[in-house]
Amino acid sequence: MKHILVTGGAAYVGAILVPKLLNRGYEVSVLDLFLYAQQSVFAKNEKLHLLKGDLRDRDFVKRSLQGIDTVIHLAGISNDPSSDLDPGLTKEVNIEATKDLIAAARDLGVRRFINASSSSVYGIKEENDVTEELCLEPLTVYSESKAVIEDFLRKERGAMVAVSVRSATVCGFSPRMRLDLTVNILTHHAVKKGQIRVFGGVQKRPNIHIEDITDLYAELVETPANLIDGKEFNACGANHTVMEIATLVQDTVGPEIPIRVEPTNDLRSYHISASRIAKELGFVPKRTIEDAIRDVAAAFADKRIADPENDIHYNVRTMKKVLGA
Ligand SMILES: NC(=O)c1ccc[n+]([C@@H]2O[C@H](COP(=O)([O-])OP(=O)(O)OC[C@H]3O[C@@H](n4cnc5c(N)ncnc54)[C@H](O)[C@@H]3O)[C@@H](O)[C@H]2O)c1
Repeated sequence: MKHILVTGGAAYVGAILVPKLLNRGYEVSVLDLFLYAQQSVFAKNEKLHLLKGDLRDRDFVKRSLQGIDTVIHLAGISNDPSSDLDPGLTKEVNIEATKDLIAAARDLGVRRFINASSSSVYGIKEENDVTEELCLEPLTVYSESKAVIEDFLRKERGAMVAVSVRSATVCGFSPRMRLDLTVNILTHHAVKKGQIRVFGGVQKRPNIHIEDITDLYAELVETPANLIDGKEFNACGANHTVMEIATLVQDTVGPEIPIRVEPTNDLRSYHISASRIAKELGFVPKRTIEDAIRDVAAAFADKRIADPENDIHYNVRTMKKVLGA
């Protein structure tokens, strides 16, 4: 049975993905600094190995790759505000250490590398259909790091099967909960603050349910190599405007909850097409944004999100603490 290394696995996406991989019978190692979660996000399992350490520690990474068939690379500084805090550190982790991980995996005979990229690599596009053929125009340190790694992986993969997933913003409940992502933020505000604040509202945001993106990563472990090798795929559930998301939250959580619109200069709008992944891999998300809203609202109600103001739920706040900024 395959042994999978999930970097950054002790986090928002990984906390849902890792149990899915274990349920499919794989042996799983998680390489992570554990910045946001303790080992307790995972139930004990003899097929699960938790490897605490830094992706920038080359020897540790090489040791972690011994006997690994597939890498799912999630680790990194994973949003714009956190990446902007220290652009040099972002480049060290998201670019230099990630390049070395890819090269080490290739040289040590890892067979498959699944890379978590981001739909933000496109920047802002006028086209209605933002497909994988369009050029990348990343606007931030974070999205630039994702674009650089996609390119490096495609060119330097050697005999390794390599694929990048340009994920929309993820939404829904995870045991390592993030409350700094659009759908989760608006749901949090509706449930806990009794109002939904929207800045602007006409901006589009692509989103995908956390159960769908983790199904996709799990499926990519076995997808025939010829369908994915050297490719990038957008992954998206829906492209709604922020006002549409706010209205979905209102409809789902409580029609009496007011939506307060405030002005903003930042009307950057993003959207992506998910037609290639549907056509070439048959991947069609099964959950809706409303499902994610319901799941997050339920997690507030039954106290699975016990302390929503805790810095652990906000990457930039935690990163500021880590950096002493
Ligand atoms: N969550 C989203 O909406 C979304 C959207 C598109 C792409 N992605 C990408 O998917 C991946 C997973 O996202 P997430 O939301 O689970 O992120 P996250 O911020 O919850 O987790 C990132 C993990 O990386 C670890 N990490 C950071 N620096 C490290 C280092 N130097 N060494 C070892 N581990 C380190 C952290 O401890 C954390 O556990 C990221 O690469 C992110 O950029 C996420």
